[in-house]
Amino acid sequence: MIATNFGPFASRITGTGSAFPDQRLTNLELTKKIDTTDEWIRERTGIQERRIAQAGSEADRNSSLGARAALAALEMAAKTASDIDLILYATCTPDTLIPSTACWLQKKIGATKAWALDVNAACSGFVFGLATADSFLRSGQFKTALVVGGDILTSMTNWEDRGSCILFGDGAGAAIVERTEATNPRRILSVHMGADGRHWELFHVQAGGSNMEVTAEVRAKKLDKMEMKGREMFKVAVRTLGDYAVQALESNGLALGDLDWLVPHQANLRIIEAVAKRLELPMEKVLINIDRYGNTSSATIPTALDEGVRKGLVKPGETVLLDAFGAGVTYGSILMRW
Ligand code: ACO
Repeated sequence: MIATNFGPFASRITGTGSAFPDQRLTNLELTKKIDTTDEWIRERTGIQERRIAQAGSEADRNSSLGARAALAALEMAAKTASDIDLILYATCTPDTLIPSTACWLQKKIGATKAWALDVNAACSGFVFGLATADSFLRSGQFKTALVVGGDILTSMTNWEDRGSCILFGDGAGAAIVERTEATNPRRILSVHMGADGRHWELFHVQAGGSNMEVTAEVRAKKLDKMEMKGREMFKVAVRTLGDYAVQALESNGLALGDLDWLVPHQANLRIIEAVAKRLELPMEKVLINIDRYGNTSSATIPTALDEGVRKGLVKPGETVLLDAFGAGVTYGSILMRW
């Protein structure tokens, strides 16, 4: 599906923020728990350490990290919580199934005017949330949206599966998205999204939804934890990230290599390198944080973007491509002029 500007309005990100739990888990520490090495993890994934939320800690709850990230984004945008019309919280690891994490966040930051809902597209969640916010803002219905991508993936990690547990970490990233004139060059330029439920088996959690209750037996079999077909997922990721990035470039009349910044989902550094190569981009033009945080699901893109903005790397007028894929499978890209 393609959405382009067709009315008087567009939208743009005016503030970003991030938050991570304090506790670090290094590769070396993982070698004490499972049969792996620091070298294997670095070479095969690019990850050196990740952050782990403490179970039961109020500060480390998904919505608490989201609230910290949201407040930082509000400050950058020079807005207050009372300015927010809409909160979209992208997560597949909600604080509670009911109420939504978006409602927990709304309460924490006091955004009383906003309506609030969760978006679940796994690792593509932030990009799907941003695409949804863009639609509402372009329609003229709202002025200011808060989009958060936050996940506590370690709550669903099978720590006995060395093929997957090395990958995941926890965190949250946020963006304030504001309505602007369609003539403003600094705006979201295009949105390309997709999903293919036929590939559900590549990455899924069997229990915990209405299909399967989490009983003692289910817990013993780890059916309430993430199961991943890593090699197959790797191939889908490289193909879809590349395809959706190329679509974004082509529909905006840009050539390969034309981008100022690529902000890809951070699942594996080798996946990111393969996509950068296909786009003819040097790695210096790719915002990366997987080395320090691992795969934080819907938080990877907003936190990597936030870091690039706060370091002064991403400058006004530059082209930035957000490029996501995730379980479902889901995928999509958003091109913007910063
Ligand atoms: N330490 C040491 N050896 C390991 C480890 C480990 N942690 N994990 C696997 N191995 C071994 C395997 O057992 C295998 O050994 P064998 O050859 O003797 O059988 C060997 O390493 C190679 O295993 P592969 O699975 O082929 O390793 P690969 O290079 O594919 O790397 C990885 C595995 C890192 C999981 C990779 O496939 C990957 O990153 N896949 C993509 C994952 C992904 O995109 N996830 C995102 C999900 S999206 C979401 O919504 C959350």
